[in-house]
Amino acid sequence: MTFDLGTELADRAGESFSLHEKYLNPAMVRMLKTIGFDRTYVRAQGQYLFDVNGERYLDLLSGFGVFAVGRSHPVIKKALRDVLDADLPNLVQLDVSLLAGLLAERLLSHMPGQEKVFFCNSGTEAVEAAIKMARAATGRNKLIFCDHAFHGLTMGALSLNGDHSFRDGFGPLLADSVRVPFNDLPALEAALAAGDVAAFFVEPIQGKGVHLPSSTYLAEAARLCRTHGALFVADEIQTGIGRTGKFLATDHAANVDPDLVLVAKALSGGYVPVGAVAGKRWIFDKLFNRMDRAVVHGSTFGKNNLAMAAGLATLAVLEDEGLIANARLRGESLLRRLGALKSKYEMLADVRGQGLMLALEFGPPKSLALRAAWSLLEKATKGLFCQTVIIPLFTRHRILSQVAGHEMYVIKLLPPLCLTQADEDWIVRAFDDVIADCHRMPSSIWDLATTLAGNTLKRKAGT
Ligand SMILES: Cc1ncc(COP(=O)(O)O)c(C=O)c1O
Repeated sequence: MTFDLGTELADRAGESFSLHEKYLNPAMVRMLKTIGFDRTYVRAQGQYLFDVNGERYLDLLSGFGVFAVGRSHPVIKKALRDVLDADLPNLVQLDVSLLAGLLAERLLSHMPGQEKVFFCNSGTEAVEAAIKMARAATGRNKLIFCDHAFHGLTMGALSLNGDHSFRDGFGPLLADSVRVPFNDLPALEAALAAGDVAAFFVEPIQGKGVHLPSSTYLAEAARLCRTHGALFVADEIQTGIGRTGKFLATDHAANVDPDLVLVAKALSGGYVPVGAVAGKRWIFDKLFNRMDRAVVHGSTFGKNNLAMAAGLATLAVLEDEGLIANARLRGESLLRRLGALKSKYEMLADVRGQGLMLALEFGPPKSLALRAAWSLLEKATKGLFCQTVIIPLFTRHRILSQVAGHEMYVIKLLPPLCLTQADEDWIVRAFDDVIADCHRMPSSIWDLATTLAGNTLKRKAGT
């Protein structure tokens, strides 16, 4: 029997939801159908998705940040085809590949403070590697993480997760992990004081909720870590590779020189799973300290040729197309224009972010009619209001966005960095229209909200 991908896709077109329902995750299918996101996408280009009816969608999710250079990028595709056509020896394992060396060199050229790189296959693997490196380098066990932190969902990374909805039911997690409030230096200092901490893991901007620290927090936190002999680990898995308008989000602050920097997501242009830990030579030397420990940490597919070539192409595209500067300028403009809506709409409480990692936060209305409807939603599920905003953004305006975390009133925008002026206008127009509707009663949004709340309350009551 021969395999032909085109025939396979054509023969089984339209079966994705039934296959997922049967073999993968029926809860996901139910959720998509409930909120009306069950489209059949057939093509993707740059910041756009196209469905089977030819409708174009603006993707403000970019696959949770992996398509920073845009989908179906010709330079990345060519690099991948070239690797395959070259029939290079891949994953020889008892060998070292040129492509991995080249990507390490190019990645480090964007991080002047770092000297070495370890490659793996995902963000969470980078976190796991950093946990082991920190323990090996310091000889200590304890790890500090922040409230609301997200570092991935494998057991080590989950031990550093600051949200009970991810942790509950999976314990016991790593015993020596300690939570501190984000952006709270005295709490961090108290946790470090005993001198038994291996590392402090922190996102420069927290992905869940898009929380930015004060301008001095990261530099001070790094200084405190150094004073107390702990490593300062910057998790730039979401914020790195240009997302915030600099190569790393920690580059915005002066005097932040992390011991380890974690990147993943956008590094391979979205095509191939990848992750990387960049860091100081002395830390790597403690882990790979003898010939018999040359493979003490690693992963079979780490450094594979496809990921490495895609990484090289991605870094070239970022530079050639000026995408980091575009992220900075578009982000500033969106922040200003969306922020201006606050004076028009009482429920729009905050607009924040950096570069193209942005958030709109909503809060309770003052008017009596709206308050009653808001309270009903609250009773059903905390944070349900934001679902009622992202649904019309999608169905009416063809904008794909997400709620920024559980039980939150925050909508997050994480678009490809190639966003244009026309896209920016599309976003502002859509939010203006949908938020205006939220402030009208009755309106189609509150009708939808009432239905969603009713369904949720019925489900909770088991009817
Ligand atoms: C800051 C941060 N760290 C770690 C991860 C985990 O990455 P992955 O999903 O590739 O395991 C994520 C993913 O969203 C993230 O945003």
